[in-house]
Amino acid sequence: MNKENNFNPEIIVDSPGRINFIGGHTDYNNGFVLPAAIDKKIKFEFKKNGTSNICNVLSKNYNKFLVVDLAKIKPSKEGWENYILGVLQQLLDRSDRVRGFDCVISSELPIGSGLSSSAALECGFAYGINELFDLKLSKLEIAQLCRDAEHEYVGTKCGIMDQYASVFGKENMVLFLDCLSLEYQLIPMQLIDYSVLIINTNVEHNLSTSHYNKRREECEEGVEVIREKYSSISSLREVTLSMLEEVKKEMSPVVYQRCLYVIQENERVQKAAEYLKSNNFKNFGELLYQCHEGLRYQYEISCNELDFLVDFSKGKNFVLGSRMMGGGFGGCTVNIIHKDFVDTYIEEIGWAYEDKFNVKLDAFKVAPSNGTSHQLLTVKENQ
Ligand code: GLA
Repeated sequence: MNKENNFNPEIIVDSPGRINFIGGHTDYNNGFVLPAAIDKKIKFEFKKNGTSNICNVLSKNYNKFLVVDLAKIKPSKEGWENYILGVLQQLLDRSDRVRGFDCVISSELPIGSGLSSSAALECGFAYGINELFDLKLSKLEIAQLCRDAEHEYVGTKCGIMDQYASVFGKENMVLFLDCLSLEYQLIPMQLIDYSVLIINTNVEHNLSTSHYNKRREECEEGVEVIREKYSSISSLREVTLSMLEEVKKEMSPVVYQRCLYVIQENERVQKAAEYLKSNNFKNFGELLYQCHEGLRYQYEISCNELDFLVDFSKGKNFVLGSRMMGGGFGGCTVNIIHKDFVDTYIEEIGWAYEDKFNVKLDAFKVAPSNGTSHQLLTVKENQ
């Protein structure tokens, strides 16, 4: 394989990013989420290369080439390489059928923006190798091993939502996922006069991984306190508001706020699923605003840029709801906006944002789409 990618792939995999309408930071608390895979993807081309252990991976976006010896996998200093290495390690832990291969990766997903380009990268890569070497891993196993790879090689103690949505997404459907049972319902999204607009702040404050893990620890601390009274509790998912109030004095005000947010957010997600089923987008959108307020003031993972975008939309009756998505401290907002106003709104908010922060935003419409998929191709001889 050379860097020009003039090889004939055996398999092409498309792996989508995801949006999450509501259910921020509930997944690692065994709660509910409402994500969808989107029509922006990472594309992978795969081919066996006949070696027993040498893997060549080209990232077209980074214009970087990675050579991996399967016998010597270890974490790297280069961020993106750890997604690849972490997934390979997880696959090797589960199967002895992986051999050398070549892979070319090209992405249309903005990186680090809350659209989960990382889960798309992990899952598409794992999915392709699963097909190439017939490892017989299920979709759920792929989502789980990719989450584990992120914990071990990247260091973000993420939940399962991003990987799950990227793998299991369905066109025009939103997944109502229970992160405890890992069962989901598909709810049709019939927006008719409305669009889903993503607005990218184009900022990524350098706090995300450490603060993300810290939030997870704070939630676990809250669970420990509650367990002193209710020993059968294993996650915030099982905690009610009245249980939390009973032990409020035993925990720090910060831990109390984190727990309160998660319990309220789980309630919002369940309500949002009902509003989605009845096409009540006005009430659905209102819950997105409430979610953002919770993430801003109780969970404290927003930032000025995200708050500005959400505040800007308030009081505009053509925007039904807006909130930040993803791990926090930058990235995108998700907005439900009337179709007729999308273009003028992008222009208006773009000017205001640049005026305030001296940064240009990006905005684009997305639609709920199919999860990871592949095509098998015929390989020409002697190539
Ligand atoms: C990141 C994580 C997810 C989830 C979201 C917040 O995207 O990867 O597991 O926790 O943040 O909802």
